[in-house]
Order: sequence, then structure tokens, then C-alpha cells
Amino acid sequence: MQTEYRSWRVFEEAGNVQCRQVKRPLDELRKAGGVLVRGVYSGVNFKDALTALNRAKIVRRFPCIVGIELVGIVEQSDDPRFSPGDPVIAHGFGMGAEGNGGFTEWLSLPADQLVRIPSGLTLEEAGVIGVAGYTAALAIDAMQVNGLTLERGPVAVNGATGGVATLAIDMLAGAGYEVHAISRKPDDGLLRDLGAREIHLPPETGKRPLETARWAGAVDSLGGAALDELLRTMRQDGIVAAFGNAMGNGLDTSVLPFILRGVRLLGINANSPMPLRERIWGRIASDLKPQRTSRIARYVGLDDLEQVFQTLIEGQGRGRFIVDLRR
Ligand SMILES: NC(=O)c1ccc[n+]([C@@H]2O[C@H](COP(=O)([O-])OP(=O)(O)OC[C@H]3O[C@@H](n4cnc5c(N)ncnc54)[C@H](OP(=O)(O)O)[C@@H]3O)[C@@H](O)[C@H]2O)c1
Repeated sequence: MQTEYRSWRVFEEAGNVQCRQVKRPLDELRKAGGVLVRGVYSGVNFKDALTALNRAKIVRRFPCIVGIELVGIVEQSDDPRFSPGDPVIAHGFGMGAEGNGGFTEWLSLPADQLVRIPSGLTLEEAGVIGVAGYTAALAIDAMQVNGLTLERGPVAVNGATGGVATLAIDMLAGAGYEVHAISRKPDDGLLRDLGAREIHLPPETGKRPLETARWAGAVDSLGGAALDELLRTMRQDGIVAAFGNAMGNGLDTSVLPFILRGVRLLGINANSPMPLRERIWGRIASDLKPQRTSRIARYVGLDDLEQVFQTLIEGQGRGRFIVDLRR
């Protein structure tokens, strides 16, 4: 019987923030109450790399287990909503920042933070989708609520080889949209396999406040100059969903796309309240279900995380690194 569990924790020691893998007694979790989850998968996100490499002040409580998501199986529960054997996913609610996160073999969480994985998804699919796919689906849902339809025209996805972007391409293409991927990396076939109709190198346009109108919708992982570029190239009444800052926090742009073309800029935050979470996970398991998750996933073990953090911070990932917590 397992008596210890492994996790990646960030510590603040003598003013220094450091992240490392540690072992702790499993009994401390069994006694903690809440819902005890046996971790199976935890996708690695850009934010996790920022945390682990101490590139941004994300953690608010030390020591803290890193990782903003976890997919696993309930082992024991003090809440009637969950029973042993239930497949669950947890993300948001401060995971990996204000409270413990997902790079761990076991985790105890409040029942209010758990979503039961819908029957239309396997544990493996949910592991690949994770918070990245949730964010992609939330962005697509928000664009549709604001009027994006197939007839309106192509949808651009920038930072296209990233975790959120690859899942957005898969979901949008599956829903029938004409997807144009924008990526700095040489084309290795991945983006077309996911359903991208065209692949573009950034940036393609000049610096005029309004450039040739190209996109009906756009999904932005990058912020900074890349988001400005999207805004200047949107069609009349185009809709941009912005959730990322991989290129920077700034946004230097003009109001002309908004006041002359009616462009709408939607802010997307994946830390949704539970009713929205359940509705979006329902869509991920049905009409927005990604079809090519096996093409997106690269499985690693807890021991590989240091290298993975470095790859993500350098913008060199393709698809998603998924920690198989049973390795
Ligand atoms: N608001 C929210 O709730 C929320 C939720 C999830 C994620 N996010 C944010 O969304 C962004 C994407 O997350 P992710 O997990 O998909 O990240 P990721 O897997 O690391 O992908 C980011 C992609 O952006 C491009 N990129 C990275 N660094 C760049 C740079 N310096 N300049 C230009 N392009 C760069 C690369 O794509 P190419 O090489 O193909 O161009 C990279 O693959 C991050 O900023 C993340 O923090 C926010």
C-alpha cells in the first residue's frame, strides 16, 4: 500500500522562491477531509511554467503544489455529491496559486471545486482538454453568444501551436468554421491535421490603424502586438476573444477597429462560476468535442517537469504536455 505521494511544490525560503519535487505522507491527505482524488492526468500550462520558474508572482500561499488543473478518480469523499470511483476534473478556484494544484499523485479538494467528467468524455480525453480546452471552449461559446456564425467568415487562432490554441483549432474546425492558424513555428503538419485551412506567419500586415479586413472571429493567446494585429485585421462586426499574455501584458492599439468596424473585444477568464463551468464542460463533451486529442497530447512523467517548464517558457511547445501521474 502506498504510504507517501509525490508532488511538485513551490517554497519560499529565506526570500527565495524555489520549486522542487517532494514526497509527503499520504495519511495527511486522508485526514484532511473534503474529497480525496487520485491524480491521473495534469496538463502543463504556460502559467505553471511562470510559477515554477518564478517568472511571475502567482503563488500567494507557500508552500504550494504547482499545477492549475487535475483530472483523477475520487478515492474517498465526505460530500454526498461524490463517491469513490467518480471521474472528476478540477481547475481554477486558485489551484496552483492560492491553494494546492495538480502536479501531485494525490490531492484533497473541496467538493465545490470539482466537476464530474461528463459521460461523453474519457478520462484520457479530459486530461488532454483540461483548462486549455476549457478556455478554448469558453472563448468559442462567448464569440457565438456575441454573434459568430459559420457564414460570417474565417476565424483566426494565433500562437497556434500552443495548448489553448491547438484545442481551439480542433473545436472550431469540428464545428465547421474555416480556421486560419497563425504560428511562428515551421509547419510540421500538426495544424492542418487539427483542421486548420490556412497557416500564416506573424505579423503579416503593416501598422495602419485598419488593415485589410480578414477575420470574422479571432482567438488570442498572445496579447501585446499580436492582439493589436488581430484588432486591425477584423472584418465588420468581427469578434476577438482574448485570454492570453504569452507575448506580453501590454496592448497598444487605436479605437478605430471598435468605432469604424464595430469590432468586439471579449475578455475570457477561465475561472468561471460552477453553473457556467458545467454548461461549458457539457458542450466540450458534445457539440464542441475535440476530435484529435491524441494528436495534441505529449505524455510526460512528474520527473520530466523541469524540462517541460523550460520548453513552455521559451514558447517551444507544440500541443499540450500532459503529466501522466501514474508514471
Ligand atoms: N485567461 C485565462 O483564464 C487563461 C486560461 C488559459 C490560458 N491563459 C493564457 O493563454 C496563453 C496561452 O496559454 P497556453 O497554455 O496555450 O500556452 P502555451 O501552450 O505555452 O502556448 C503559447 C503559444 O504562444 C506562442 N508564443 C509563446 N511565446 C511567444 C512569444 N514570446 N511571442 C510570440 N508568440 C509566442 C507559441 O505559439 P507559436 O509558436 O505557434 O506562435 C506558443 O506555443 C497564456 O498566456 C496563458 O497564461 C489564460
